[in-house]
Amino acid sequence: MELDIIHLKEIDSTNKYCYKLGKEGKRNLIVVSDVQTGGVGRLERKWYSDFGGLYFSILLDLKEFKNKCKNENIGKLNFLGSLSTIETLKYYSKDFGAYGIKFPNDVIVNVDNKDKKLSGILSEININYGFLVLGIGINVNNKINDEIKDIATSLKELEGREFDRFEILNRFIDNFKNNYFLNDDEVLKKYKKHSKTIGK
Ligand code: BTN
Repeated sequence: MELDIIHLKEIDSTNKYCYKLGKEGKRNLIVVSDVQTGGVGRLERKWYSDFGGLYFSILLDLKEFKNKCKNENIGKLNFLGSLSTIETLKYYSKDFGAYGIKFPNDVIVNVDNKDKKLSGILSEININYGFLVLGIGINVNNKINDEIKDIATSLKELEGREFDRFEILNRFIDNFKNNYFLNDDEVLKKYKKHSKTIGK
């Protein structure tokens, strides 16, 4: 699977932009933006998107998914997002046991006995047009807004150094491509291994 990358300096939301491109017939794209002026989270929450974080959306073709991953459940794509994200982030961590997935798709880290959110995923599907947008936000070097500093953290805060966002993105893409071809059971097994909430 080839994924072309579109790099923007600023956009309201990479999910919204991908959704628009999806309706125009585009597929197999990643849109990444340095800043989002209207980043959205699940349950219509706001996603703080200041410079230094990694904000991107993947535009996937559902027909292609059905062809390549026969008999697989579309819901798998959701799990692929958080699975590939945690595999990527654990690679950079000194204390990867503290990192985990909180159902359905949050990556959380236990800091001084408190879970803080490091990454979130918003997936949006359009069945009629046959595409799915998987939007991923990772707090990398961005300063955590005061309003959420008790419940959120960044990779920089956790690991005490700055990270190259595009190195992280490329590692994510490699993990995502590998996981894409796993079957439902294999994805679920890997997901559960990282989960802090399922089967615990
Ligand atoms: C959540 O945990 O509530 C989901 C957060 C998803 C944020 C990402 S950042 C890239 C993409 N564009 C958006 O507007 N939202 C997602």
